[in-house]
Amino acid sequence: MLESIKRIDSAEVNGKRVLVRADLNVPTADGKVTDATRIEQVLPLIRDLSQRGAKVVVMSHFGRPKGKRVEEMSLKPVADKIAEMLAPISVHFAPDCIGEEAKAAVNALEPGGVCVLENLRFHAGEEANDAAFAAALAELGDIYVNDAFSAAHRAHASTEGIAHLLPAYAGPAMMSEIEALTIALEKPHRPVAALIGGAKVSTKIDVLSNLVEKVNLLVIGGAMANTFLHVEGRGIGNSLFEPGEANTVEQIITNATESGCQILLPKDAVVAPELRKGAATEVRSVTDIPDDAMILDIGPDTVAEISARLADCHTALWNGPLGAFEVAPFGEGTFAVAREVARLTEEGGVTSIAGGGDTVAALNAAGVTDAFSYVSTAGGAFLEWLEGRELPGVAALKSA
Ligand code: 3PG
Ligand code: MG
Repeated sequence: MLESIKRIDSAEVNGKRVLVRADLNVPTADGKVTDATRIEQVLPLIRDLSQRGAKVVVMSHFGRPKGKRVEEMSLKPVADKIAEMLAPISVHFAPDCIGEEAKAAVNALEPGGVCVLENLRFHAGEEANDAAFAAALAELGDIYVNDAFSAAHRAHASTEGIAHLLPAYAGPAMMSEIEALTIALEKPHRPVAALIGGAKVSTKIDVLSNLVEKVNLLVIGGAMANTFLHVEGRGIGNSLFEPGEANTVEQIITNATESGCQILLPKDAVVAPELRKGAATEVRSVTDIPDDAMILDIGPDTVAEISARLADCHTALWNGPLGAFEVAPFGEGTFAVAREVARLTEEGGVTSIAGGGDTVAALNAAGVTDAFSYVSTAGGAFLEWLEGRELPGVAALKSA
């Protein structure tokens, strides 16, 4: 399947207008980019195309302006940041992404030049995957490259429609993301463990249902684990849980048993009267949670058990923190497991793949992001991939 995706490295781009779909949906404050990770990811492609003599036209969404021009959601500050990072390559900005202004900016490009177009979502046609809007974008390029995996779960004009109108290729960041995730889910070195945390079962039902059929060990943490413990008949005190998800949890447990996937729940927990920085904590067995306590992290025995089980695995997938990691000291369980996965990865025994905004923040806080085999910057797209869905932006490249 992956073989059917054309890679941009193999295309003749000299003198051609290459329309690059990037994900420039980066965090900003006071009109300045505060985290340039997503820009850094697409720079190798832009540099390479420029060096190969292409006229590089970069397009992206930014925020959710809902089809109207919203000044605070202009890509101009992001384009300025790109210009700074790409210097001495000259970077222009087009005040619209289609129409005369966009055409004039693109026509003015010399081979090797770069132009960033204004926010695609200023036009309703983008999210509607409108054929006329896709055609207007396609007028700006001879070739299309998608390097925005993190937007590939959206069937929009710039991620889906346009791939059918121009010769369509995947960029290197898109390719490495697809490859890493394919290795993890389609042909992993077994046994495979998935660590799934976060607050709610309800947002991850499809992820859990898909994973029990694909992985050997499913480690469940975070407030989500409380719902599982509750269904097992444990007293969970004042802990967060979802009473309405009991049937879902039972179904997931049944499916896991049928597929030979073992579910590992916390055996002990760090509890406190409330989720507050520096709250007085206690470690309790999950058979002995006080009525007035909240489970806020996995306990040391659970960390030890997860670590022992991971040592037998060759692949580890991770989405979602195992405790309330943003509030000290409730990140310790997540950080300890993160350090262990990093250590096993560095020793060469485990291929580790993590993704999702909170997960990446937790790995950063633990200081182990670089030790993982692959860390995805995608949130929604990473989750949909874990759900076993075909992402429209990837599918369009396959059929292009
Ligand atoms: C993201 O930040 O997750 C992607 O850029 C997609 O953005 P969206 O959720 O607004 O479609
Ligand atoms: Mg999102």
